[in-house]
This record gives sequence, C-alpha cells and structure tokens, in this order.
Amino acid sequence: MAMEVGAEVKTGLKVYCSISEPLKVMISGAPASGKGTQCELICQKFGLVHISTGDLLRAEVSSGTEIGNKAKDFMNAGQLVPDEIVTAMVTARLSREDAKEKGWLLDGYPRSFSQAQSLEKMKIRPDIYIVLDVPDEILIDRCVGRRLDPVTGKIYHVKNFPPETEEIKARLVTRPDDTEEKVKSRLEIYKQNAEAISSTYSNILKKIDGNRPKEVVFEEIYSMLSQVQKDKVKPMKLGTTLESLNQASSGKDNWRGIPTRLNNIPHSREIRKYFYEDVLQATQRAINEGRTRLKVEINIPELNPEMDVYRIGTLMELVRVIALSFADDGKRVKVCVQGSMGEGALAGMPLQLAGTRKILEFMDWGDYGAMGNFINIGSIGAKEVDEQDDMFILVAPQNAVGNCIIDDLKAMTDAAENRPVILINPRLKDLPGSSGIMQTMGRDKRLEYAASFQSCYFFRLLYYMGTQYPIMGAIRMSYPYRYELYKRVDEPSGNEKYIILSTFPEKPNSDEINNAFLGKPRKEMGVDV
Ligand code: AP5
Repeated sequence: MAMEVGAEVKTGLKVYCSISEPLKVMISGAPASGKGTQCELICQKFGLVHISTGDLLRAEVSSGTEIGNKAKDFMNAGQLVPDEIVTAMVTARLSREDAKEKGWLLDGYPRSFSQAQSLEKMKIRPDIYIVLDVPDEILIDRCVGRRLDPVTGKIYHVKNFPPETEEIKARLVTRPDDTEEKVKSRLEIYKQNAEAISSTYSNILKKIDGNRPKEVVFEEIYSMLSQVQKDKVKPMKLGTTLESLNQASSGKDNWRGIPTRLNNIPHSREIRKYFYEDVLQATQRAINEGRTRLKVEINIPELNPEMDVYRIGTLMELVRVIALSFADDGKRVKVCVQGSMGEGALAGMPLQLAGTRKILEFMDWGDYGAMGNFINIGSIGAKEVDEQDDMFILVAPQNAVGNCIIDDLKAMTDAAENRPVILINPRLKDLPGSSGIMQTMGRDKRLEYAASFQSCYFFRLLYYMGTQYPIMGAIRMSYPYRYELYKRVDEPSGNEKYIILSTFPEKPNSDEINNAFLGKPRKEMGVDV
C-alpha cells in the first residue's frame, strides 16, 4: 500500500495524506489482439506485476516440468489447458508478495466462465477489465507474422514490428500455435467464452479498439488506468491512522447499518452473514495494514455464551468465513482451539468450547481441498506453531476456573513472532483459582499481555439495567474506524432501526454511554486540524 503525503499552508497547517492501493488490472482479447504488446507498455508505466498464463505455461513447457508436460499438447493444438492446472498456477502467482505490493496485470486469465467464477469465489476482482477488440482477418495476419525473441521475450511482427538488428532477426522463433489453422481454432474458443466472462465483469468492462497503432491503443489504456488509479486514492486529512480513528465507518465499505430483529432467535441467515462479513472486512483491513496481534469481540445473542441462545455453530461459521477468506488469498491458516486444561477434579474444557475441536475437524472446508493444506486445526501453545503457518486464528481462548490460558497463549504468540494471531471472542480476565483465591502470581503481567491485542472488531448490544429486552442500542467498532454508539428506536410502522448517537476514539465507558443517551454534549476528543 503506497502512501503519499503533501502539505498545504494557508491560514493554519493542513496536512493531507492519501493511501493508494495497488492497481489490479485484467486484460483480455482474442489471440493476437495485442495483449502481450500492451502489457509490456503498461508494466513499464505502472510497475505492475505481469501475470500472463500463456507465458507461465510456455515457461513450464520449455523447462519440461510436470505442468508443462500436461499442458503442451493442449497448447500446441490451440486448445485451452484444463482449468485446474491454470487456476492453481494463477492463484499461487497472485498470492506472492510482489503482486500484492505492486499490483497486478492479469493477461490471458480468466479464459472461461468457470475460471472467472473461481476468481470470484476467492474474491479476486480487478479494478478494470480491458478488452482489446480487433477484426478476425487482422488477428490471423498478426499471429502468422508474429516472432518472439527468446532472449529478451520481446514480441515482433515480420511486417508491423520487424526486429531492430540482423542479430536479433537470426534468433527469432515462431510459436507452435501460430499457424493459420490453429489461430482459427483459438479464435473460435475465444468467441465461445468471451460473452460469459464479460458478463462477470460487465460493470468494470472497457472495450478498446485494438486495430490502431500500438502507441495509440496504449494512450487510451494509459488514460483509463490513470483515472482508475486516481479513483483508488482515498484522500485523508492528517496521518492515516490517527485520522481514520476519527471517522465513523458508517457510509464506508458498503456498510448497511445494524441489522434489526436481533432479539429474534435463532438469528436469520442474513443476520449471521451480515456479521461474518462485517468482522471479515475489519480483520482484513487490519492485517493488510500489518497488524499482527488482533482481537475480535462480537456479542450478538447467538455468540454470547452467557445467554441461553448461545450457539457454537455460529461461532464456528464465523471462524470458517475468516479462515477461508485468508486461505483463498494463499495464506496457510491454523485454526486453534485450546485442549482440556487443569488437573484432577478441575480437569476439563471451558463449557463454551466443549466439542469445538471435533466440529472444526468435521466441518465443510470447501471444495478446494483447503483442509490439511491451507487450513489446519491446532491447539494453543508454542509447539503448535509450525514454520509453514502464515497466521493463527484462536477460537475463544479463555481462562477456566483454576487454570490460566495466558502462559500458553504467550508462548504461542512469541513463537509466532511477526505472523498475525487473531483472537476470536477471547475471555482472558482473571478467574478465581481452585481455592477461591484470585490467582495473583504475575497477574499484572498477564493482564498487560491480554491487553496487548488490538481490537479490530467490536460489537455489543446494550440493554437497560437488569433486563434483556428491549435492546437499548449497540456499540460497534470496525478497524480502523471509531467506536460508534447507536440507539435502537421503534418506528410508528412497527419496524425498528438503529441511529448513531456519537462516536469515540476508545471504547466508551458507561458514563459516556449514558450521557450520549441523555443527549448531554460531550467534549470532542478527536483531533481536528
Ligand atoms: P496466450 O499466450 O495467452 O495466447 P493468446 O491469448 O492466444 O494471445 P497471444 O499471445 O496469441 O496474443 P496477444 O494478444 O498477446 O498479442 P501480441 O501482443 O503477442 O495463450 C497461449 C495458449 O496457452 C492458449 O492457446 C492456451 O492453450 C493456453 N492458455 C493460456 N491461458 C489459459 C487459460 N487461462 N486457460 C487455459 N489455457 C490457457 O500481438 C500479436 C502480434 O501482433 C505480434 O506480432 C505483435 O507485434 C502484433 N501487434 C500487437 N499490437 C499491434 C498493433 N496495435 N498493430 C499491429 N500489430 C500489432
């Protein structure tokens, strides 16, 4: 994520920061429409990582790898290589650090509806989908006349772009799939698939006339990409983190307001989905900004172990959504749940976690073989940290009467070093020891350690003292925005809604909440410049 900072001095000091996310571009078009030629120019200007499935496959073929041997015959015949080979190759390449940092330019993928759907499922979406449009007869001439320089990778054409020197000319090669007959077959396959792929990206599709000099085509692409890049820069006043803490997230990230009917149990599928997505977005933002010690605290009735309606299935679903999303990004996620604790009469599992590990093991972890590969199940402790793990999700780690999880947790996070550890609904407060006396040994250190996890999502319903009906309001915080305080109001129509009363840089205490409900003005704590 690149950051630009500029300063403007007028009557007072004003500092503007902007965060620009890397560009994500897809380029498509019939064989020889000029994708490779334009990609070279785009990468020179925008510094994107060029991912061409054709080039990747040709490299595999020439190195004689297993993938290359499987792909060779399909390519030489001008047919598509089977999806599973190409998709695995592309997703592995997209998940590499350089593509995430610099942005990517995907060329030649997706080439079928199912490939487009694979990306959609993994939430891999470009900012723009460019289609180069060139008449058939021109395409055939371009293919038949195309020559490649095996040393530089540069693309030439015997008539349109002849090589600069005799030396280069002597070493040029022709692609085996560039005969007239094979080009016709490739063109046919392209046409069969083009419409279905375009429909997936219809809202970001830009068709460009590719039958013009390459510099003219590039000029148009350049101005489009510059515009997209500009749109991606989110202007911010003051320092990013400071400023973002001063903002409520309402109105951002397609947030749709707090769902109603939270007293209806079981929660509807929509409500559960809403919260899973809300938590996921906040977690992703925090991880993308390099945060590594995070906690999610979400306390809707089905996730509140103190309520009769607590459902472990809802907690498991939430964990699955988060874990699979990171696994889809190519991360190896270890989902950890503490084992039996304590000794003698006090041995056992915190009630909230009983059966959790079995459920995790038997859960449906998707059709892509994520389980055992990108998702692994573990316990809590230093020995659970393996070299290949990229991040850890800890399911409701908690102290049990007579036993403290914090030492194991600390050993684990020490071993994880700078890899992210996300605690989902942790309960790390001190509990009475077996003799009823508080465990005081090292208490301060333990509490300090528990507090070192940064909240990346917080949601709690508020009730009037001593009751659980009706709901009074809610507090929500979604990283990196402020804590938002909502009041639930009944509408004359019989519906209910949540209205925002105030926002806070830190979790509000009960006085602050009461004052906001009573309409008392609050001293603004945010920084305004
Ligand atoms: P791939 O390499 O992607 O081939 P393609 O899509 O058929 O595209 P080309 O590389 O032929 O053309 P291009 O559009 O890049 O044009 P270029 O810039 O070179 O894929 C090859 C094979 O791999 C496939 O057939 C398939 O088997 C397999 N494969 C790849 N991806 C797959 C996937 N996702 N799923 C399954 N299988 C997959 O230009 C062409 C010529 O025109 C050059 O000589 C150039 O100099 C010239 N030229 C370019 N622009 C201009 C211009 N503006 N004016 C005049 N001449 C121009």
